[in-house]
Amino acid sequence: MGKLLNIITNIHQKTKRDVLARMLDDKVKCMGIARKFGSDFWDGDRRFGYGGYKYDGRWGTVAKQLVETYKLPSDAKILDVGCGKGFLLYEFKKILPNAEVVGFDISKYAIEHAKDEVKSNLFVHKAQSLYPFKDKKFDLVVSVTTLHNLCLPELKIALQEIERVAKNKYILVEGYRSEEELFNLQCWALTCESFLRPEEWVWFFNEYGYSGDYEFIYF
Ligand SMILES: C[S@@+](CC[C@H](N)C(=O)[O-])C[C@H]1O[C@@H](n2cnc3c(N)ncnc32)[C@H](O)[C@@H]1O
Repeated sequence: MGKLLNIITNIHQKTKRDVLARMLDDKVKCMGIARKFGSDFWDGDRRFGYGGYKYDGRWGTVAKQLVETYKLPSDAKILDVGCGKGFLLYEFKKILPNAEVVGFDISKYAIEHAKDEVKSNLFVHKAQSLYPFKDKKFDLVVSVTTLHNLCLPELKIALQEIERVAKNKYILVEGYRSEEELFNLQCWALTCESFLRPEEWVWFFNEYGYSGDYEFIYF
């Protein structure tokens, strides 16, 4: 069974969020727009998603910690499931120039607007569709703030595919530990499908045969 890691929580806690304002701002309509994962979600108004997701280097420390945690070799093969604009993969490539980095995402817009240095290694694909890779191809598979966007039957396929293609794996998902965190998550999240407590996430990891590491973020 995998371990609970603490790699991204610091970055997550740096952003201030007015959760109630979002809930009161025509949220159902905003969710519908966000869930298309198009230009509005990435680079439109904050009420639809990121409010402009530009490269700022914030994933550098994350890549460094992951390289150290998994003692990745210089020619490591790394897959990012739900890679967005490829910022984390770009940071891996800066640390390990000989690495083979690959990413996919449901969002055509994100892939088209990805970091130029890694764009050719990215493709449009769903986390819940079978992955076009052989067993244990990757030294590390990561998935950051993506898998809670799947419903449970989809999550089962995604976790099993990550397990199949990866030697090491690390995923980060949203969760809640109290009524307050559930309320905040329900107010803030535009695209989340699976609202689960950490112990429920771990239960599903075991049930679906996912043996990798994990981290949770809370609101
Ligand atoms: C919060 S963003 C995180 C993006 C990226 N991992 C990062 O941290 O910069 C969530 C990502 O999940 C992707 N996504 C949502 N549902 C997906 C699915 N079913 N399959 C693949 N990617 C999905 C979105 O397009 C988006 O890139």
